Amino acid sequence: MSAPLVTFDHAPSDAWYPPRREFLSRLLGGAAAAAVLPAGMVAGSEGLSSSPPTGLGESFKNDPVDERYWSMVKDHFPLREDLIVMNAANLCPSPWTVQEAVFGLTRDVDGDPSHANRGKFGDLRDEARALLAGWLGADPEEIVITRNTSEGNNVVISGLRLGPGDEVVIWDQNHPTCSLAWDVGARRHGYMVRRVATPPDPGSEADLIRPFREALSARTRVLAFSHVSNVSGVALPAGKLCELARERGVMTLVDGAQTCGAEALDLHAMGCDFFTGSAHKWPMGPKETGVLYVSRERQDDVWPLIVGIGWGESDAGSKFEALGQRDDARVSAVKEMVEFHEMIGKRQVEERIRALASEVKRQLAARSPRRGSGQRHAGPLRGAFDRLRGDER
Ligand SMILES: Cc1ncc(COP(=O)(O)O)c(C=O)c1O
Repeated sequence: MSAPLVTFDHAPSDAWYPPRREFLSRLLGGAAAAAVLPAGMVAGSEGLSSSPPTGLGESFKNDPVDERYWSMVKDHFPLREDLIVMNAANLCPSPWTVQEAVFGLTRDVDGDPSHANRGKFGDLRDEARALLAGWLGADPEEIVITRNTSEGNNVVISGLRLGPGDEVVIWDQNHPTCSLAWDVGARRHGYMVRRVATPPDPGSEADLIRPFREALSARTRVLAFSHVSNVSGVALPAGKLCELARERGVMTLVDGAQTCGAEALDLHAMGCDFFTGSAHKWPMGPKETGVLYVSRERQDDVWPLIVGIGWGESDAGSKFEALGQRDDARVSAVKEMVEFHEMIGKRQVEERIRALASEVKRQLAARSPRRGSGQRHAGPLRGAFDRLRGDER
């Protein structure tokens, strides 16, 4: 059973898969749509195109076709017409299809809270887990559906067996749930936390890798870093850092709160041991859901935070998801979240985000009073970062 039983009756009738043909006709006027748009965009009416336009990174070269496509994507959200959401890093709105799943399943279970009716949620959760795993390039047995990145980070940080003599190397731009949480663990268990700073204005990937390489020692057990900093926006070369750590026998925790749903991820290719993310940020999934990836080879290295009904050690889900009663409707709606992304394509999502970000930066730079001075902008950003870090301490 995967379709919601009760429909969300506040949504316009065509809202949660606006028929493309009708939508395009409105835009372009009937047959004109077929003449102007790429083939994949006008065939069928089951949702968004299975073949979005290519070259989306070029979409600011005044290409109305691409912009119409993305305007169709926007039509899948109940967002007010006069708003543009720029804070995807925090809490994002969901498309109709995710809302419909959450509301529909909530009403369904409130209408019939019997064990017999609620029994379906086990299968729905496994379906969501399998889709999530495929989307992230992992196996279902390695995926835990958490409440958010904070929880995932803390499961790993509190669950690893570390003690006096051990060291943990972290980036000095880590989010508090992957820096302060290590400090608290160090006070409790007696290990050391070593912070690494990267150059404010790196010229190459090597500039970002070097400080970590120099910080790793024979005592280092874990390297933990944000994939993309939530403060400066700097992206670390996660695959290369994981490779470096692996060569030294060091475990890796990648906080992916700012890349999960924004970048086309393949966790097996990245080679991390642990990865965390939040569904309610870039993935635009149900609120208070997230993901923790625990690679097969590390599942015995982490103690669970919570041992509840259903606890077992056969896979990451049963070991780290035994939280007690959950909001099953939200957990199940992770499936619709992944389906929405897959409908567009994760590479297309990443390209679009990069194109928008580049355009925002270009326009900000063009309006900056420092324009033409030849100065880079990392200086003031760095200053802001240091002030924020000061507040955090
Ligand atoms: C890098 C990073 N890690 C962790 C978090 C915490 O995310 P959540 O509040 O969803 O647990 C954030 C939130 O912005 C973040 O940017």
